[in-house]
Amino acid sequence: MYRRLLRPALFRLDAEDAHHLTLRGLGAASRVPGWAAPLRALTAPPDPRLTQTLWGHAYPSPLGLAAGLDKNGEAVPAFWALGFGFVEVGTVTPLAQPGNERPRLFRLPPDGALVNRMGFNNAGADALHARLAALRRRPVPVWVNIGKNKATPNEEATDDYLRLVRALGDVADAFVVNVSSPNTPGLRALQAAEDLAALVRAVVAEVEAGRVRTLRRPPVLVKLAPDLHPADFGASVGAVLEAGAHGLILSNTTLSREGLTHGHRGEAGGLSGRPLRGRSTALVREAYRLTGGRVPLVGVGGVFTAEDAYAKIRAGASLVEVYTALVYEGPGLPARLHRGLSRLLERDGFASVTEAVGADAR
Ligand SMILES: Cc1cc2nc3c(=O)[nH]c(=O)nc-3n(C[C@H](O)[C@H](O)[C@H](O)COP(=O)(O)O)c2cc1C
Repeated sequence: MYRRLLRPALFRLDAEDAHHLTLRGLGAASRVPGWAAPLRALTAPPDPRLTQTLWGHAYPSPLGLAAGLDKNGEAVPAFWALGFGFVEVGTVTPLAQPGNERPRLFRLPPDGALVNRMGFNNAGADALHARLAALRRRPVPVWVNIGKNKATPNEEATDDYLRLVRALGDVADAFVVNVSSPNTPGLRALQAAEDLAALVRAVVAEVEAGRVRTLRRPPVLVKLAPDLHPADFGASVGAVLEAGAHGLILSNTTLSREGLTHGHRGEAGGLSGRPLRGRSTALVREAYRLTGGRVPLVGVGGVFTAEDAYAKIRAGASLVEVYTALVYEGPGLPARLHRGLSRLLERDGFASVTEAVGADAR
């Protein structure tokens, strides 16, 4: 129904207008009590094999919403109702900022892809805190993806990340240190191993300090770009682990334009969707090899089908996220992926997702 009716209507609109319209709808639905739980009963994974406990939290499904779709945490209950096992909000910066000039979001339908150069448009830490604090229930973990303001020079970036940890430590079930968006000038330079180690160490220490105040210790994950040179990738993964991070997300959008057909391929920004699928799965495989499974990995990039999600799990991902496929496949996607994942686990004789994690690396 989405592909036949709703998508053609949405695709007639400018991509960002369609995004705001959809999110406003989901946000409005999120404020109406009583409908989310019955819908969740239809979309939630019916299969206990899909559940995991990670960092002491129950994850009812390995499938999460990737960062950037709900930057201000406006529709967490709606995404829960659609079946997601966790929701990553943000990227949030300390102060609200408008992001780049429009147009800044482009569809490439024949390629199953998007190009965006949003530039961390968001309402800032205080607004996100108010929204997350007001959630009446928190049935799945809510992760907060943090980044620096555009106006903050790289030498002062750590202060921004620490401010965000202090501001949001009592409402975040995990923090994601975003050093990999291509749309904030200079941000990706923070991925260099030594700088990254110092940043992550500071963030982990701030979370630890906050525990005394809030009695919470959200794990700290780091989200990397897919465009690092293999040696630099290895060094950054090593640095992240050494600095005490609790997980890695692979990957953010790519600057590569390989194999694209649509005219929008020339737009500046980060590419997401199907063209990123193989690359991000390969990075999960490499990170799993490098880390020996010591911390959970999150695979994201071009997941459209259960087979795509399963390939990332078998490569070493404990959790998998989606963004672009939701635009192309619609709100039924999480439920479809759950059914497919259950079938694939059954086919291969795995008693749980946990057993399948890294199966291809063994
Ligand atoms: C429009 C758009 C905005 C995004 N904004 C963010 C962001 O603010 N922070 C972030 O870490 N990733 C952001 N991403 C990247 C996604 O979280 C994800 O890593 C990437 O799109 C690959 O997954 P996909 O192929 O399923 O979309 C954004 C992606 C898109 C398409």
